[in-house]
This record gives sequence, structure tokens and C-alpha cells, in this order.
Amino acid sequence: MALAMKFDKSEKVFKELCEIVPGGVNSPFRGFGQVGGFPPIIQRGLGSRVFDIDGNEYIDLCCGWGPLLFGHSHPKIIEAVKEAALKGTLFGASTEGELKAASMVRKAYPSMEMLRFVNSGAEAVNSALRVARSVTMRPRIMKFEGCYHGHVECLDSAGQEATEAGGPLPLGSSPGSASETVVAKFNNLDSAAKLFAEYPGQIAAAIIEPVTGSMGVIAPDPGFLEGLKELCHANGALFILDEVLTGFRVALGGAQERFKISADLTCLGKALSGGLAMGAYGGKAEYVKHVSPTGPIYQAGTYCGNPISVAGAIAELELAFQEGVYERLEVLSERLVSGLKQIGGMLVQNVGSMFFIGFGPERVHDYEDCLKLDLETFAVFFHKLLNRGVYLPPSTTDAACISAVHTEEDIDKALDAVSEVIREMGLN
Ligand SMILES: Cc1ncc(COP(=O)(O)O)c(C=O)c1O
Repeated sequence: MALAMKFDKSEKVFKELCEIVPGGVNSPFRGFGQVGGFPPIIQRGLGSRVFDIDGNEYIDLCCGWGPLLFGHSHPKIIEAVKEAALKGTLFGASTEGELKAASMVRKAYPSMEMLRFVNSGAEAVNSALRVARSVTMRPRIMKFEGCYHGHVECLDSAGQEATEAGGPLPLGSSPGSASETVVAKFNNLDSAAKLFAEYPGQIAAAIIEPVTGSMGVIAPDPGFLEGLKELCHANGALFILDEVLTGFRVALGGAQERFKISADLTCLGKALSGGLAMGAYGGKAEYVKHVSPTGPIYQAGTYCGNPISVAGAIAELELAFQEGVYERLEVLSERLVSGLKQIGGMLVQNVGSMFFIGFGPERVHDYEDCLKLDLETFAVFFHKLLNRGVYLPPSTTDAACISAVHTEEDIDKALDAVSEVIREMGLN
């Protein structure tokens, strides 16, 4: 991994992209807004590595922002997708693959008695909220400060927090949708209890990331999720776990398996489908049956359950069901996280293969702590690391990930690079 990498081609393409695509990116954080500069333009990925158009090679610790549990271009996933594409890209009709994929999801997530495939995590969340409102005939949703659920209008996290703080509504959102949302604090049951008391009979559901992935990686305090579920049920509301990021990542059965808890409704995406566009939502059959055509809630999509994504999901899940995958991920994660802690000079938190590196506070336990993270120091750290061939998400608050195909050598190389950077920055 050479120092003083060149990014000339990336810079040129990115500038041209900016002329035609807002910020040069099709999803905002890719634009390096938090860390400054411009992003390398990626040409291809293989296993644990990505390569940009200037020929630079990186150890990938972003993993597509979570989905790539088996790295890039896994031969089994590529083969499955190729085979599916040769049979046809879309039928707008059911396929056997949907039965196979849905059965596999239900095997990993027994709480998802019935489920639907959609095209993204945000779609899964949006659909689950509709189910909750319809089942309870209540309008309000409780979310948790700093939890990210995709671009779902009523949950728009930054906007909601701005609203709570007395600031303006998120531009472009309808005032009605944001005002239906009430915001509790992560790892703080009292804040949730207060909201249930303040809005009796109005809250349809509480939705939460069981492990946060967008305000640093924060594990739930022991008893927090269980307490929240109890509060929901005592107040006639549904308990929704947004496992779009944790699903198939922190365990085969996600946070529900890891923390031995079950949700009324679950949202999945990301690692569900090996990098293909797909999400899923589901839960108790009596609730999920509320969707059309068995019930009154309209939820539909031309590409929902499309054969290519479904083939990717089946291949991904077959890999995930193999013995030893999650043990391997834990071993690699432990090697990385304990190595980072040994280097010192930074805050590191993880749950399994989700981790984050921050500077400033001694720990991040809620959104307030997250606001204390030192973005400037992270930006310098990030670019120095990128120049040494280690690709983190360009945001200190977002979860970095490793895959089951990362090797001990990858981890050790990344640790060497971090060690050099931390020393160069005089942080340890
Ligand atoms: C917890 C969580 N929920 C929902 C989403 C939205 O998923 P998507 O980007 O596939 O719409 C994300 C994406 O980062 C997420 O991390």
C-alpha cells in the first residue's frame, strides 16, 4: 500500500458528477461532507478489498455501509445472480425463489411469522409503520433520538430533532407527518414512559435500532429493549425493531438472537441480500395480514421480490447459515477492536462486526454523547488512513463493518496503518 496515493482520475470524474448529480452522489454521506475533500471513484471490489479508478487499493471497512457480510463479488453470490439474470430480470409474478428466501428469513427470525420483500430498508420501515398504525388505529410513532431509519418522512432524524429543539421542520416534509412522531432518548426508559403518559392511546408503535449505527455504535443497556417492549405492550403499542443494519450481521438472527428478544414487527435490509437492492418487513401473522390483498393497507412495488435480488438473498443466506460464520466474525472483530484499543488515542465501540472509531468523549451512550464527537480530528484521521489504503465510512458516527472474508492479515494491516496515523497525529 503506497503512501501519497494519487486521486487525479477520481477528482475529475467527481467534478463532472457534481455537475449532473447533486453533490456528485446518489446518497448524501458518500460525498465526504463530514470529512471534506472528494471521494475516490470506485471501480471494483474483490473480497475484503475495493479498488478505485486511479488504481488505488483499499482494505474495505465500510462494506457498502453494512450489507457486504461476505465481502465483494463473492463467487457464490455472483453465480446466483448471473444464473437468475439469464432466466429473466423481472416477471411481476411470484417465483419459487421468493418461497425459499422467505422461509430462510423466517428460520433465522422466528418472530417474522409472515413477511414481505421490498426494495430497501427505508421501504421496509415505512411499510412496518403503516402496519402498526393500521393494526392499532393510532397515529403516532415513537422513535429514539439519533436512531436512523432511512429517508422515511415522519422519522427524518435530523429534522425531527430540529423540530424537538424548536427549530424549523425538515424542508420538504409535510408538517403533519413530523408532528406525528414523538422522540424518546436511547438507553433511557423513563423518556419513553413519559411519552406514553403524555400521549395516552395515541402511540401506534415504538421503532428502534437495537444497536445504533448512525450515532456511533451503541449497544442497548441490559434490560433496555426488554423494558421498552413491556412499556409498548402495557400501552397497547407495537414494538418494532429496525434490524436493517443489525440483521444477519450481529448474529444470524440479528439483535433478536444476540439479545434474546423478539419484536412484534421487524425491518430488514442490507446484509439480507449480499449487496442487491432488497429489504423485508414482517412479524406476527395477525399484524402482517393487514397488508393488501389480505388486509386493508396498501403496500406494493413493481420490483418487490424481484428474481435477481431474491437470488442474491438466497445465496447470501446460504452462506450465512453455514456453520462457524458468526464465530469467525466475532474472532476477527475482537482482533480488530482489541488491537485498536491497544493502540489507544481513540474511542472504539463495537457489537460484533459493527464498530466505530471516534475522538473526544470517553464513551458514547446516547445522542447527547454523540454530539460531543470531534469531527475535525476524525476528518484528519480518516484521510490519513485512506491514504494508507484503509477505507472507513467517511463519517465518524456511522458504523464501520468487517466481513467474514476479511483475513487476519487484513486486520493486522489496518491496525498497522491506524497505529502509524495515531502516532503521526500525536494522539497516543
Ligand atoms: C437502521 C437502518 N434502518 C434503515 C435504513 C435505511 O435503509 P436503506 O438505505 O436501504 O433505505 C438504514 C440505512 O442505513 C439503517 O441503517
